[in-house]
Amino acid sequence: KVIVLDFGGQYNQLIARRIRELGVYSELMSHKITIDKIKELNPKGIIFSGGPNSVYSENAPKVDTEIYELGIPILGICYGMQMMSYHFDGKVERANVREYGKATIQVKNDKSLLYRNLPAEQQVWMSHSDLVIEPPTGFAVDASTDHAPVAAMSHIDKKFYAVQFHPEVLHSIHGNDMLKNFITEVCGCELNWTASNFVEMSIDDIKQKAGNKKVLLGLSGGVDSSVAAVLTHRAVGDNLTCIFVDHGLLRKNEAEQVMETFKEGFHMNIILVDAKERFMSKLQGVSDPETKRKIIGEEFIRVFEEESKKLGQFDYLVQGTLYTDIVESGTDTATTIKSHHNVGGLPEDIDFQIIEPLNTLFKDEVRRVGEELGLPDTIVWRHPFPGPGLAIRAIGEVTEEKLHILRESDAILEQEVRKAGLYREVWQMFTVVPNVRSVGVMGDERTYNHAVAIRAVTSTDGMTADWAHLPYELLQKLSTRMINEIPEVNRVVYDITSKPPATIEWE
Ligand code: XMP
Repeated sequence: KVIVLDFGGQYNQLIARRIRELGVYSELMSHKITIDKIKELNPKGIIFSGGPNSVYSENAPKVDTEIYELGIPILGICYGMQMMSYHFDGKVERANVREYGKATIQVKNDKSLLYRNLPAEQQVWMSHSDLVIEPPTGFAVDASTDHAPVAAMSHIDKKFYAVQFHPEVLHSIHGNDMLKNFITEVCGCELNWTASNFVEMSIDDIKQKAGNKKVLLGLSGGVDSSVAAVLTHRAVGDNLTCIFVDHGLLRKNEAEQVMETFKEGFHMNIILVDAKERFMSKLQGVSDPETKRKIIGEEFIRVFEEESKKLGQFDYLVQGTLYTDIVESGTDTATTIKSHHNVGGLPEDIDFQIIEPLNTLFKDEVRRVGEELGLPDTIVWRHPFPGPGLAIRAIGEVTEEKLHILRESDAILEQEVRKAGLYREVWQMFTVVPNVRSVGVMGDERTYNHAVAIRAVTSTDGMTADWAHLPYELLQKLSTRMINEIPEVNRVVYDITSKPPATIEWE
């Protein structure tokens, strides 16, 4: 494997991901990692990531300098290059021109393995204010740009390479090839990491951690917890028990489908907890969105705790936390964007340990692992669904009538979008009951019924989104079907707001 040490840059997670895409297992780790830990991991290569600091600043993150004595190849990127240069007495300075964006490098060192079989002149992506202006003793200048005399450098004998630009960003046209050269030519890795290797590795890992102990998992039927469940089941078999809480805020037939997939399809121990009434009674009379979320979150944990107590002592809890969940909730170096329900929200007095088999992966990688595990397309490619479920789509107080309208309209939406072949193109879609009644006329009769709003968005990560430009014919069909098939509805509207300024959900 190749490890990437995190110095806080915004593209860091991408580096590990690119290496995995190339076929070598890679993980992002804290720069505070100890030398003993590195020795234990015995990586074939180490990459220092970029980062916002200047190597001269007081709180500049550093590595244990013994790392340069291990004989392991190192690639320093941006801040990583400056740190390497600083350590080996090169000259780092604040640049006159802050370079940001595309730049052209001239490769000058034909012995450098990083540029093997690549053109001498190529476009790269720069984003920096500090610059190495003189390489340390023993290092050669590999490439330069108009503004950066030392855009790249290397010490071929020691297998140290460094680049000022960002090879992990797609704007660096041959960036991937350079990373590939580093891991194959310099580190000597074979390109054989695939989803199936990941599955094998994780199963071994879970086996080693959990042994013959009892393992518990909260299954939601979403991609992440489903993949985590099947993976863990492969590792510990019947020592795994899954708890699936039906809070009454699920979509049409959702509970049945989840039970069918996992109990009948995968023969897993799975307990369905019917907590519909509990949640509904707690939500009665509550219309404030944040209060609704809070009630559901707390009740969820309570139900989960009670059910797990009934099952006796557990040693491990498995969570389907993804890499992105951890980043959004804040790490050593990344700032907090929002606290995620998987990471936060656990009771404080837990007496079991946590296993997170997916915490190095991105959503699309989890999907590939899910496919590898034989999970059905309906689960692997399922749109995200929020923890508080339909409650945050029933604006105002949650009532059975609103939930009924949501279930029926959502089912029609999914059917029609699938029929139109657009399901995978849409990141997420659902209907909302905005708590508005309006006047209509059906036959010769006046009606005064609910409006339904359709929300469909395209996105890559849910952080920003655009409203999906669904074809008019499809919208027409949705409107007709919803009004004809759901007597409580007499008006359908389409939400044409992007995020920002709106959020994806209405509450
Ligand atoms: P917003 O509405 O914030 O949603 O633009 C972004 C994505 O997150 C989902 N979402 C949640 N997921 N628990 C979850 O597991 C929650 O409390 C929650 N709130 C929003 C939302 O469906 C969208 O995919």
